[in-house]
Formats: sequence, C-alpha cells, structure tokens
Amino acid sequence: MSQEKGTGDGRVSRRKLLSWAGLTAALAAVAGLAYRHFSATSAVKVESFMTRGQGQAKNILVLTGSGRVQGNSDRLAEAFAKGAREAGHTVNVFPTGRHNLRACMHCEGCWSKGKPCVLADDFDTLFPLLEQAELLVFCSPLYWYNFSGHIKAAMDRMYPYSKKERLRDMRVHETMLLMCGQSHFLRSFAGPAEAYRQMLGYKRWKDRGRLFVTGVDEFGEIAGNRALRTAEDMGRNA
Ligand SMILES: Cc1cc2nc3c(=O)[nH]c(=O)nc-3n(C[C@H](O)[C@H](O)[C@H](O)COP(=O)(O)O)c2cc1C
Repeated sequence: MSQEKGTGDGRVSRRKLLSWAGLTAALAAVAGLAYRHFSATSAVKVESFMTRGQGQAKNILVLTGSGRVQGNSDRLAEAFAKGAREAGHTVNVFPTGRHNLRACMHCEGCWSKGKPCVLADDFDTLFPLLEQAELLVFCSPLYWYNFSGHIKAAMDRMYPYSKKERLRDMRVHETMLLMCGQSHFLRSFAGPAEAYRQMLGYKRWKDRGRLFVTGVDEFGEIAGNRALRTAEDMGRNA
C-alpha cells in the first residue's frame, strides 16, 4: 500500500492534503477567469471585416490617435497607407496625438470667422484635409475601452460640419476603423465600435471595414502580427 492512501490510523497524509489544496486553488482560478469573462460580456458585435472598393483612385485621410511615434497603431496606419498608395490612392496621415487640438468648446461660434472653428490651433491644418478626403480612416489605440482622447478631440472638432448653416461640408462618404489594444478580448472594443456605428448612421457614411487587434501593448509589439498584412490589404482594397 502506498503512503498517499492514508496513514493507516484515519489521518490524511500531508501529500494528499497538498494535492487537494492544489486542485481547489486551480478550480478557484478557473472559476475566477470564467466569472471575469462572462460577467463583462457585451451585446455589441465586435467584428473585423473589409470590403472591396470600386477601383478608382481616391483621396484618403488617416487620423491616427496615439502619442507614441511608430507605436502599434502608427504601424497599423503605415501598413494601411502602404497598401493604399500602392493601389494608386492619395493618402494623408494626420497624427492627432502629435498635434495641438483643443477640445470642442460647444461655443456655437462655428463658421463665424469664415472657417469651421473659432479656435486657432492645428485644426486649421486638419480641416482642409477633412474637406478634400473621400475616405476617412480612424486608427486609434484603445484607451479605457474607448477611442484615445487625441482622436476623440479631432472627431469632436468635426461638429461645424454637422451644422445646418455650414459654409462647406466634408467630402467624406465612407470610413474605416482600425484599433489595437492590450486586451485579449474583442468585446473590450465594444464601446468605440458602437460609437463608430452610430456616428456612421448619423453622417450616412458607408462602413468600408473594421480591424480590431487584440493583445498588443508594448511599444512596437504589433511587429510581425498578421494584422499588419490585413491593414495593408484594407488599404489596397480601399
Ligand atoms: C491611457 C491608456 C489607456 C489604455 N486603456 C486600455 C484599455 O482600456 N484596454 C486595452 O486593452 N488597452 C488599453 N491600453 C493599452 C493600449 O491600447 C495598447 O498599449 C496599444 O497597443 C497602444 O497603441 P500605441 O502603441 O499605438 O499607442 C491603454 C493605454 C493607455 C496609455
């Protein structure tokens, strides 16, 4: 008889106790993970997809949303731009994270100075690009389950183009969304995915594709990730 089966006098051996403790700890860890997973599900479908354009060259504006130069979202944008340029499109990339863009003040002063916004900052450089772009690409890291503040400021500054009395409009009629984050769960992107969907409905923009990249956090960690090839394909098919 082996020692693990008991001590013979009714007491449980130390080894057996330890294995029970190990099993209980493992079960508790699995239950904890399952709880974390299922207690935070989302009704929003977060799916990556791409569509094929009609083939004609177009003007594309990519708004990136990170302060990190050559970080993960920058590399996504770069891959997209490479594919798009190779396909003959004109691509401008505007890194909102490296520009001075103040938040919209909701002052209703839009167009009162002959330009979309009364604020004097880098939106003065951005708005001509917005007015000539046909396809607008939002490329942001996930910050607190949302768009980064940098890119959100740029979105909010598009408010003048939603006003009835606007002097000019954006040419944009279609958009794409590229996002990356540290989370391994697609549902972490549910917030911005839904905001993007609603924004498109409001502006009647056509959704040309979405790409959500999970599990990238460290600087440049996206290098070698097949998502870069997907982003390039999205650009090529723009
Ligand atoms: C302020 C801040 C908030 C973040 N919030 C989240 C988050 O809610 N979920 C997530 O998965 N990653 C989050 N991250 C991680 C970034 O999304 C991730 O590191 C991403 O790859 C950064 O892209 P970048 O290199 O283009 O800046 C956050 C990072 C920062 C700096």
